[in-house]
Amino acid sequence: MSCVFCRIIKRELPASFIYEDDKAVAFLDIHPINEGHVLIVPKRHETQFGNLTEDEAAYLFKIGRRVLKAIQESGVKSEGANLFLSDGPVAGQDVMHSHLHIAPRFKGDGQRVGFSHSDPEQYPRTRLDQIALKIAGHTPKADKQETMNQPTLETKRLILEPYKDSDLTDILAYASHPEVPKYVPWEAHKTIEDSQKFFDFVRQSTRNVRGKLFFVFAIRLKTSGSVIGSIDFKNVNQFTGQIDYALGYENWGKGIMSEAAQAISDWAFSNLPEMVRLQAFCVSENIGSSRVMEKIGMSREGMRRKAFVLKGKPVDLTDYAIIKDKEVIS
Ligand SMILES: CC(C)(COP(=O)(O)OP(=O)(O)OC[C@H]1O[C@@H](n2cnc3c(N)ncnc32)[C@H](O)[C@@H]1OP(=O)(O)O)[C@@H](O)C(=O)NCCC(=O)NCCS
Ligand SMILES: [Zn+2]
Repeated sequence: MSCVFCRIIKRELPASFIYEDDKAVAFLDIHPINEGHVLIVPKRHETQFGNLTEDEAAYLFKIGRRVLKAIQESGVKSEGANLFLSDGPVAGQDVMHSHLHIAPRFKGDGQRVGFSHSDPEQYPRTRLDQIALKIAGHTPKADKQETMNQPTLETKRLILEPYKDSDLTDILAYASHPEVPKYVPWEAHKTIEDSQKFFDFVRQSTRNVRGKLFFVFAIRLKTSGSVIGSIDFKNVNQFTGQIDYALGYENWGKGIMSEAAQAISDWAFSNLPEMVRLQAFCVSENIGSSRVMEKIGMSREGMRRKAFVLKGKPVDLTDYAIIKDKEVIS
């Protein structure tokens, strides 16, 4: 195999590496546009971008985003960047092993993006529409689930919606009571920085990647407008969803979490047609949480003894689930 990138990956040729995992590598371009010009290269040899799998293609951009952030944090001069992929010799691809460029840019760097705009009269709307139609005919239909954004749900007393920046102090208020995290792995928030960390986690992990959902909902009380808790939904696989939740101490015992969990359950079963099971589990001592699951129609499936280490201590977990069409286990 004479491919330069394959040989770099095998360490048969030298390169200045930035990153490596089992699927991709990143190293400096030997002919950089500017200092810090990085190439993200899939480990599997593939000439054309269009022949990468969807996972491989997405992965290049995933690692590319990380490397770009790293460049920005490293002090390497970058007031902006071009992310580009040259596909085919006619487009300037020099090494026939598909790769993504991350090139830092700054004012006065003397570089250009080598395109010129066409005469707008050459492309009137009718012509654009014709071209769009031609390509659209070959573009796979959007999977409903794939394009679904996190919804906002409304119940009698609550709004369930994505967190906003302005919710930080509310998060601190509900998550700082020592009783709240008693049966969950996290610690009570002490400072706004703790809440910020949770907030950042939510931002980074909320996703819908090819039907793999993780939606975190702020539970907002309609009367006060304050966020009083959190409930999240993920799908373990296309057939199984799972919920987790926590509520501020002052609002316990008013049926609030049951109301929120019911809304998530209704939304999930009606919007994820393949989902047949919604599950949840709790530390067995957590009676309130067990009750929430029972109140939304889940059945107790069993106990996993000493299956979880809660704050250094092994504890029992109780599993609950509801099956589509409300079949119950006897
Ligand atoms: C568990 C939790 C979400 C419950 O929320 P909630 O809004 O108080 O729940 P609801 O009011 O809808 O229902 C709770 C039910 O449990 C009952 N309950 C709560 N604690 C109980 C206890 N120690 N013994 C007996 N019943 C209890 C309540 O009376 C209520 O039952 P009812 O409506 O039949 O009277 C809330 O307590 C919480 O956030 N806890 C901390 C975080 C947590 O443990 N999350 C779950 C992790 S699996
Ligand atoms: Zn190669």
